[in-house]
Amino acid sequence: MNQNEYGFDTKALHAGFVPDKKTGSYAVPIYQTTAYRYESTDDVAAEMMLEKPGYIYTRLGNPTTEVLENRITALESGAGTVCFSSGMAAVMAAVQNIAESGSEIISSNTLYGGTHTLFFQRFQKRYGIKVVPVDQENFSEIEEAINEKTRCIYIESLGNPTLNIPDFSAITSIAHKHGLPVILDNTFTTPYLFNAKEHGIDIVVHSLTKYMGGHGNSMGGSVTDLGTFDFKGNPRFEEMNTPDDSYHGIVYADLGQMGYTTKLRAAILRDTGSCLSPFNSFLLLLGIETLGLRMERHSSSALKLAEYLNSHEAISWVKYPGLKGDAFYERGKKYLNGGAGGVLSFGIKGGYKSACSFINSLELASLVVNVADSRSIVLHPASTTHSQLSEEDMITAGIDPGLVRFSVGLENAEDIIADIERSLDISQKL
Ligand SMILES: Cc1ncc(COP(=O)(O)O)c(C=O)c1O
Repeated sequence: MNQNEYGFDTKALHAGFVPDKKTGSYAVPIYQTTAYRYESTDDVAAEMMLEKPGYIYTRLGNPTTEVLENRITALESGAGTVCFSSGMAAVMAAVQNIAESGSEIISSNTLYGGTHTLFFQRFQKRYGIKVVPVDQENFSEIEEAINEKTRCIYIESLGNPTLNIPDFSAITSIAHKHGLPVILDNTFTTPYLFNAKEHGIDIVVHSLTKYMGGHGNSMGGSVTDLGTFDFKGNPRFEEMNTPDDSYHGIVYADLGQMGYTTKLRAAILRDTGSCLSPFNSFLLLLGIETLGLRMERHSSSALKLAEYLNSHEAISWVKYPGLKGDAFYERGKKYLNGGAGGVLSFGIKGGYKSACSFINSLELASLVVNVADSRSIVLHPASTTHSQLSEEDMITAGIDPGLVRFSVGLENAEDIIADIERSLDISQKL
């Protein structure tokens, strides 16, 4: 049977790997090597000229990482994937591959903080790539922001920590009408919950550090070209359409569906060196094997928790797109399959002090600067990322001092809720 015809969970376990004939190793081996031995000078020359497939140097490619790349390609139904050392490295590479000084990108104004800093403090201030922030709900604003210098529209499938879901059909239609690709950060939903290709996305970025790896033990990132966008002859992408002197005069757009990822590897990964370690690739592959099972459990437990909190007298509001009545509930139903993920946020009555008391009283969930782990994690923006602001300034900035972000782990939902119930009681006795 063609691998592409298998179901999601089967692909998550098998895609991209055939045990080698010599050892028959059923688990993907860790090729912990930097370089590869050649039979002859002709052999190495053919690989360097891209005439023969093979490995040259682990910065450019590695057999363990290649299995991970092929598995992600299969899960996203894409054309090709390149892995990176972290999610941020992947975000940076995905944009750098098609934008340079003097060009512009359009991005949602509700980005993950690290991506926001990269775009506005580095790309815009230091690298000369103008980033135009838009309200992703305002379609005329998006269309008006497009000009001849624009290279892409960049969005996230589920905002962190805003938990908003874009109208993918509307945004991708605008982009495609103007000959632009849409780059999507699919970290919070993963290909299990959101099928990016089906909804018009062209390029997908992941922080593999989160749900894809899923166990909070390995940093990693990936960029997948879904093979839907044609760069050939598009005047916006001059670099894709002219010979690359640094790589045998190759014209990447001539490679069709493989053009974007070939450039990503042969030029961006080669020059920036932000490659993924083979050991991390092995751990991330192990995590991906259970992605479907984990996303179902994260989502069902998060929904139970959201429903519990929604009727708790110590809670002033709950944000979770899987919860009936949430601002993004209908959109979640339209675009997400099988749940809304494991991250939710809520406001505790009593503000800053009560939120701190609640967090300090938790025994099962831990205060950790991460999300999307197998274990439950809690974060309080007012005492961490926004701690320099006064309570008044926080409210002006839209940060409720009582806001708690909770990443629901794979523990028994009853245990997570019992931990929260006990801590909420303490928080209200101040
Ligand atoms: C949505 C999203 N994208 C990208 C990143 C960056 O990933 P990494 O921490 O692996 O560099 C994060 C990290 O939290 C994230 O939440």
